[in-house]
Amino acid sequence: MPAVYDHYKDNTDDAIRYGVNWPTHDPVALIGIMTAATKNLGIASTVSLASWHPFLAVRSMSTLDYLSQGRVGWNIVTGNARSEYRAVGLDVVEHDKRYDRADEYMQVCEAIWNGIAPDAVLADGDTGQYADPSKIEKIAFDGEYFKCHSTPSVLPSPQGRPVLFQAGSSGRGQRFAAEHADVIFAIQPDLPRMQSFMARLRETAEAVGRTDALRVTFAVQPFVAESYEAAVAKRDAMLAKIPLEAGLTRISGTFGVDLDQVDIDKPLQEIKTQASQGLVAAMSSMFNDKNITLREAVRLSGLAGLIPQLLGTAEQVADQLEEIWRETGCHGFNLTPALVPGGYADFIDQVVPILQQRGIFRTEYEAPTLRGNLVG
Ligand SMILES: Cc1cc2nc3c(=O)[nH]c(=O)nc-3n(C[C@H](O)[C@H](O)[C@H](O)COP(=O)(O)O)c2cc1C
Repeated sequence: MPAVYDHYKDNTDDAIRYGVNWPTHDPVALIGIMTAATKNLGIASTVSLASWHPFLAVRSMSTLDYLSQGRVGWNIVTGNARSEYRAVGLDVVEHDKRYDRADEYMQVCEAIWNGIAPDAVLADGDTGQYADPSKIEKIAFDGEYFKCHSTPSVLPSPQGRPVLFQAGSSGRGQRFAAEHADVIFAIQPDLPRMQSFMARLRETAEAVGRTDALRVTFAVQPFVAESYEAAVAKRDAMLAKIPLEAGLTRISGTFGVDLDQVDIDKPLQEIKTQASQGLVAAMSSMFNDKNITLREAVRLSGLAGLIPQLLGTAEQVADQLEEIWRETGCHGFNLTPALVPGGYADFIDQVVPILQQRGIFRTEYEAPTLRGNLVG
């Protein structure tokens, strides 16, 4: 999210006051620092295509990918926050149209990535020729949303192009993901819905003619402690600290409505919005059985949003991860600890060794690139 949520009370005050997606420094700059400080880690960043021309976005992401020797990923999002459009003087684009625009965006990216033949660079000191211009395709793209007339200007990394992640969960979003992504981020609140997400995605993939395996990572929020009760207490202590206004700011931004203007004691299902249909549907269905009010839903989802929480000892958290993995056929997990950086350390020090002992988590990197390690 390049700009701060501004829907709640039609201003950014509570976002700033409670640090809800604020400050929001540019993660792309961070990739350069993180890949320089590490050897094997792949580093992916969310970059919204709402406000960045594809030529420039590819230039930045592929430069970092080249410099890191192929360890960069790009989570392509279409931009669901009004503030992002406002920040750069654009009109907000409606949900499905954002994905039409994104399809075209990807055509430009693909043209740039495919435009340099593997043997284009000669670097011939004798003849003084750096590259063979006949091996570099000129781009002449005139679309409905984007124009690009240029020559690809960034060399491919050992993994070719950054690994592409996508997080669409609505019908249209899933189609875009199935057409373009190497890995799909998904947020589903429980195992049955993770399974039905996978089933829907498989159907979509078949419909768009995708032949290679679809790799899905589910978001989870782990709380590791010495007992299940201690993990629950840890979670509840954190939840109690979240001001209602902070939750309302966040959900107003994601839903694209000003929740200050609605009766938050109304049932959740009555809230309809354009901003992120997948999330709205998931949130309504998450709390459907309970028929709870929005106030209660905001309170309960203050820490994790729609992300399921895995609570317990390291062994119990490992059991839950293994069950999701076996029962859904997902590729991995997107960890979103409630406490940073301590939450990552707890997981890496306590849960990862158990997964390794069970033989279901790597003990060595298989390849020098992110693509090699992630998608084989
Ligand atoms: C890990 C993750 C990060 C996301 N980051 C952003 C973001 O920075 N900006 C944004 O507009 N949407 C972001 N999204 C939302 C997705 O782009 C998408 O809108 C959402 O998953 C709902 O799917 P839909 O667009 O198909 O309704 C993110 C989603 C996930 C799972």
